[in-house]
Amino acid sequence: MTTTTQPGAHVVTSGAAAARATDLSKVYGQGETKVIALDRVSVEFRQGQFTAIMGPSGSGKSTLMHCMAGLDSVSSGSARIGDTELTALKDKKLTQLRRDKIGFIFQAFNLLPTLNAMENITLPMDIAGRKPDRAWLDKVVETVGLSGRLKHRPSELSGGQQQRVAVARALASQPDIIFGDEPTGNLDSRSGAEVLGFLRNSVRELGQTVVMVTHDPVAASYADRVIFLADGRIVDDMLGPTADSVLERMKNFEAKGRTS
Ligand SMILES: Nc1ncnc2c1ncn2[C@@H]1O[C@H](COP(=O)(O)OP(=O)(O)O)[C@@H](O)[C@H]1O
Ligand SMILES: [Mg+2]
Repeated sequence: MTTTTQPGAHVVTSGAAAARATDLSKVYGQGETKVIALDRVSVEFRQGQFTAIMGPSGSGKSTLMHCMAGLDSVSSGSARIGDTELTALKDKKLTQLRRDKIGFIFQAFNLLPTLNAMENITLPMDIAGRKPDRAWLDKVVETVGLSGRLKHRPSELSGGQQQRVAVARALASQPDIIFGDEPTGNLDSRSGAEVLGFLRNSVRELGQTVVMVTHDPVAASYADRVIFLADGRIVDDMLGPTADSVLERMKNFEAKGRTS
C-alpha cells in the first residue's frame, strides 16, 4: 500500500491517535455463509484530522466504522478510542464510552420531530443528566450557522439544516471523535456542501476529529485524508485529496478489478 500526498494538502502530522485499529478482523456468519468483512485492518485516526473512508459497496466501510465506534463487536484484533481498548469493555462501560467520547451522524438525521433544533442538539446530554458547556454550545451553534433557527422543529428546516442540527448534536458533548456513515448521502449537493463545509470547519476551528464514510469524490475532497477499502482491506491512503485525484484513484481500482 502506498501513501500519496497531494500538493497544498492540509497535513496533520502531530497529534495523538483519537482512534486506532490494529489487525482488526470482523467475520460474519460461518461455514458457507461466512463473510470476512474486515481482514486484519490496521489504521490510525489522528486527533484534529478529517478522514474519509471510501471503497466499493460491501468493502467493509460501515463495518470498520461500527467496530471503531463500539456499535459492533470485533472477531479479532484491537479497536481503541484514545487509550481505551473497546474489546475489553463490558456492555455498561462501552455504553458509557459511546455516550461520553463518541459522536455519530447518521444518514437519516434521526432527529426527534417534536423537539426544536436546540432541544435536539442537547438531547443526548439531557438524557445523560449532563449540563452542556454554554460557551462551547454557543460556538457550535454559531459554527453550524443555525442561530436564527434554534426554535424551529425539524419539519420547519431544510434537509441540509436538519443534518447540520444532527452534526451539532454530535459535537455538543465535545466527543473525542465523530463518526458519520454517508452523512450527506440523503442531501442535495448544495445542502451536502453546507454540511461538509461545517464538518471541515469543526476540524479546522474547533479541533474536532472526524471520520466519514462516503462514495462521493467531491465529499471526500473536504477531508484531509482518504483511505480506500477493498474486500475488507485498506488498499490506499491519500493525503490532501482533491475530487479529481480521488476519482482517478477510483478508476484505477475499477480497471484493476476488471483485469484480475
Ligand atoms: N450483519 C451482517 N451479517 C452478515 N454479513 C454482513 C453484515 N453486515 C455486513 N455484512 C457483510 O460484510 C461485508 C461488508 O459490509 P459493509 O461493511 O456494510 O460494507 P460497505 O459499508 O463498504 O458497503 C459485506 O459483504 C456485507 O454483506
Ligand atoms: Mg455501508
